Amino acid sequence: MLDTNKPYVICHMLGSVDGRIKQDIWGFKDHHKYFEETAEKIEADAWLVGRVTMQEFSSKETYSLEGDNDSIPKEDFVAEQEAKTYAVVIDPSGKCFWDTNMVSTEHVIEALTEQVPSGYLAHLRSKNVSYIFGGKEELDLDLVLRKLYSLFGMKTVRIDGGGHVNGSFLKAGLIDEFSLVLAPVADGTIGSPTVFEAEEGYENRKATQFKIKSVDRIYDDFLWIRYLVVKEQETGR
Ligand SMILES: NC(=O)c1ccc[n+]([C@@H]2O[C@H](COP(=O)([O-])OP(=O)(O)OC[C@H]3O[C@@H](n4cnc5c(N)ncnc54)[C@H](OP(=O)(O)O)[C@@H]3O)[C@@H](O)[C@H]2O)c1
Repeated sequence: MLDTNKPYVICHMLGSVDGRIKQDIWGFKDHHKYFEETAEKIEADAWLVGRVTMQEFSSKETYSLEGDNDSIPKEDFVAEQEAKTYAVVIDPSGKCFWDTNMVSTEHVIEALTEQVPSGYLAHLRSKNVSYIFGGKEELDLDLVLRKLYSLFGMKTVRIDGGGHVNGSFLKAGLIDEFSLVLAPVADGTIGSPTVFEAEEGYENRKATQFKIKSVDRIYDDFLWIRYLVVKEQETGR
């Protein structure tokens, strides 16, 4: 049953046939369009990425943190701003710096742990970047989603990678749909991130099963496959 206190989560990725996601050696002229033009067709209140992926969009400057800011409480901060759509980053120790509180037309929200120094909160406040706490030492991704719903009214969140953030949400059972743009390329790079990087080893964890929602052939040789996640109680193939 749909949980109405947290957003519906759609993970969207461009992957090679061997599931890899770094595109540097794929040789496509306009590789951004395959991801972005399909992403734009998925209605969502926010896109959410991992810290590594967000560092492609955040400041290239290194800001020095003011040490003496213990007066800033470790409480969620919802900035006053006009945007209605959001760019969320899973950044447990506060490694992204910001020159502005926007990426394109989206307002930035940092999902942090309480391990971040107060000086980092001062940096975010100085740029009017919103932030939420998802745990003391580790992030509780379910709590992060619930706060995105309760504080920002998000009904649908699109998770745009990379592999580690996707894997974390998958392992926590928090993905409802997976949208894969399958590129006609075999990458083969051992150790390069894949669509889902959940954990080392085979252990006792069960793989996540999907049902096909739709399949479209796009850009001649690409496939856009949309899957619904089979929740645990529904499996039984
Ligand atoms: N093909 C595509 O569609 C696509 C889409 C997006 C990105 N990419 C590519 O993917 C690559 C980056 O992927 P990636 O897997 O290396 O990195 P990522 O998922 O973007 O970021 C990983 C980082 O996010 C934080 N994080 C993620 N899950 C967490 C959790 N549960 N708890 C705490 N922190 C968590 C950690 O930050 P800390 O290290 O700070 O703790 C972790 O190192 C880039 O090359 C990018 O270009 C491709």
